[in-house]
Amino acid sequence: MAQADPNQELFDTSKTFADLGLSEKVVDGLTATGFEHPTGIQAALIPPIIAGKDVIGQAKTGTGKTAAFGLPILSQADPAVRGQALVLTPTRELANQVAAELDNLGRATNIRTSVIIGGESSRDQQKSLAKGGHLVVGTPGRVMDLHSRRQLSFNDLKFVVLDEVDRMLDIGFRDDIRRILKAIPNPDRQTIFVSATMDVQIERLARSFMKSDSEKITTVSGSLTVAMVDQKYLTVENWDKRSLLLMMLKREKPETSVVFCRTKATVAKVRSYLKDKGINAAELHGNLDQSRRNKVMARFRDEGIDVLVASDVAARGLDVDHITHVINYDLPEDPENYIHRIGRTARAGRKGIAWTFVTPEQGQMLTEVEKMSGALIEKMEYPDFKPGPIPKGVLEERATGVKKREKPRDLSDRATVGGVNPADGYSDDELKAMFPDGKIPTTLPPKTLGSRFKRRGR
Ligand code: CDP
Ligand code: MG
Repeated sequence: MAQADPNQELFDTSKTFADLGLSEKVVDGLTATGFEHPTGIQAALIPPIIAGKDVIGQAKTGTGKTAAFGLPILSQADPAVRGQALVLTPTRELANQVAAELDNLGRATNIRTSVIIGGESSRDQQKSLAKGGHLVVGTPGRVMDLHSRRQLSFNDLKFVVLDEVDRMLDIGFRDDIRRILKAIPNPDRQTIFVSATMDVQIERLARSFMKSDSEKITTVSGSLTVAMVDQKYLTVENWDKRSLLLMMLKREKPETSVVFCRTKATVAKVRSYLKDKGINAAELHGNLDQSRRNKVMARFRDEGIDVLVASDVAARGLDVDHITHVINYDLPEDPENYIHRIGRTARAGRKGIAWTFVTPEQGQMLTEVEKMSGALIEKMEYPDFKPGPIPKGVLEERATGVKKREKPRDLSDRATVGGVNPADGYSDDELKAMFPDGKIPTTLPPKTLGSRFKRRGR
């Protein structure tokens, strides 16, 4: 089958960055970063942002949305003013990455970016704000915190960006985002929202935060997944997943892969199993302390890790160019997270492979994923894989028809617990203190717990 020319799909070769109205300094810096032509979303989004419009931009994963909002902001930023732009992201890793990208893109300018995230010393962050801080990238909890302590001013904000906007406006973050947006005094500020996924409800909600002449710009047609990623699923029982994973890693020898699991407990188990079998694997999830998370990310970026076993904390936004394979060890809780997870590979026109493990009962969930992404996921057979024996407990259940009392699921590292994102805040101990019976609720907490949840992410 003829492969689509990735460059044709991704780049707008009819334009240069200079054509888009960016400042000379910014264009100069771009030549040094090796960017030649803008991507489709960059060509479409940069001119209206420079013209002062509020925009919602939708484009597939890995198509350069960061530079699409970053370049026009850098181009218009004033080196004499701090806190001109606020970019909010759902995870600390993504905040770090976006800030690094802005510093890289703006290398020829005197515009500097500060990162304001939970889990790290706020004193250092204040210092960074004092030294540079023309642009600020952060996660909502710490941003609100420093703002309420008058260490981060919103008074000079001209731009506010929500990266992964559908995630930022889902129920876990919505109240925080509302509060932050309301606290920005400048009525003429520009609002920029981007994501690869966005349903009509989120779009409607997003527009309620924007000026009436806001524009939605999308470069997505057909499927939401990137054509360059080869998507397959494999049917496997839960108890056979890890040996199938090991066999595939040993046989297919992916250069670098991310293995996504649903819970933090599974992440830890899978990682230690792979380590025991001699695989160079590391784990990433929201219950590790931030210095550990940073170390793992740094090692992963430096190609020091072959297999990153991760929770959905790594599903959104991360741009690591050598990821060749994404393996969904478990299906994601939300179908759209499938799109984000597999979007960690096949970035910027590269090829990638995505394998998804599906248990025999999960056919319907797989169909949901296909419907939402608009992509057909083909079945992959692994005929010489020998399934293990059915575990005793499962046989008993089948014989009696009675499900064993399930242990309360460890939900502490799901993307949301009752709609709240614990990845940016709670440790196991804190969760235990909140839910002493060990049952972590899956619905919204009662009002009285509200204030405790709001302390997350600092
Ligand atoms: O946010 P999104 O998933 O759309 O992509 P990103 O995180 O901005 O990553 C895009 C990748 O393509 C980055 O590694 C950029 O350095 C690279 N790139 C780009 O953004 N624009 C170009 N014109 C060329 C390359
Ligand atoms: Mg992005």
